[in-house]
Amino acid sequence: MKKITIAIDGFSSTGKSTLAKQLAKELEYVYVDTGAMYRAVALFAMQNQLIGPEFFDKTGLVDFLPKIQLEFKFNADLGFAEMYLNDENVEKQIRTIEVSSYASKVAEISEVRAKLVEQQKEMGKNKAIVMDGRDIGTVVFPNAELKIFMTASAETRAQRRFDELQEKGDAVSYEEVLKNVVERDYIDTHRADSPLVIADDAIEIDNSYLNREEQFSAVLELVNDVVKTV
Ligand code: DC
Repeated sequence: MKKITIAIDGFSSTGKSTLAKQLAKELEYVYVDTGAMYRAVALFAMQNQLIGPEFFDKTGLVDFLPKIQLEFKFNADLGFAEMYLNDENVEKQIRTIEVSSYASKVAEISEVRAKLVEQQKEMGKNKAIVMDGRDIGTVVFPNAELKIFMTASAETRAQRRFDELQEKGDAVSYEEVLKNVVERDYIDTHRADSPLVIADDAIEIDNSYLNREEQFSAVLELVNDVVKTV
């Protein structure tokens, strides 16, 4: 069967990565979570005192970029790749609400985006890839054969994220999570470089009222239709 490139973009906590992982597993494609890369850069900035609640040393971060090495390593037990920052597994550390906030701030810097986009293009050069993020269908793979754009209301997304964080034992309130979701939406859609926009040829899926299975089978059908035509 012909291998294609699948770009999945959309707002935070729309279930992009769950869908992308399911698809990659089903199709035996590589899955790349580009948000994890921005999160790892944010973690690096935190660890090196380049970003905090009251400060952000953007020039310092840009100077440090050549020292930031990002790699995905497949974990066969989990069935997906985990994020490594300078050879350290940071998969758990990058999932906190603090890192989420800083990730959208580092993602505004053009030099950061250029470095990560270059690496992402390289990862997709052999196709057979499902990549999720904010600029995959617009910047990373503008020629992707299938582009999906996922949305859901801010409240639905905040509730999902809140449930996830609670499960992990993170002591955050729903209000805090909702505020974080709304703030990140604003930053993601208003930044000067590669803002979150829907690509002209993307198919929009609002999953506020769709369950995972319904969504998965709908997208799988789209994949099969596209594969037939390429
Ligand atoms: O998908 P996520 O929530 O893990 O992404 C974390 C942040 O990284 C998010 O605020 C936006 C940014 N991001 C981006 O700007 N471009 C991407 N391709 C992926 C994520």
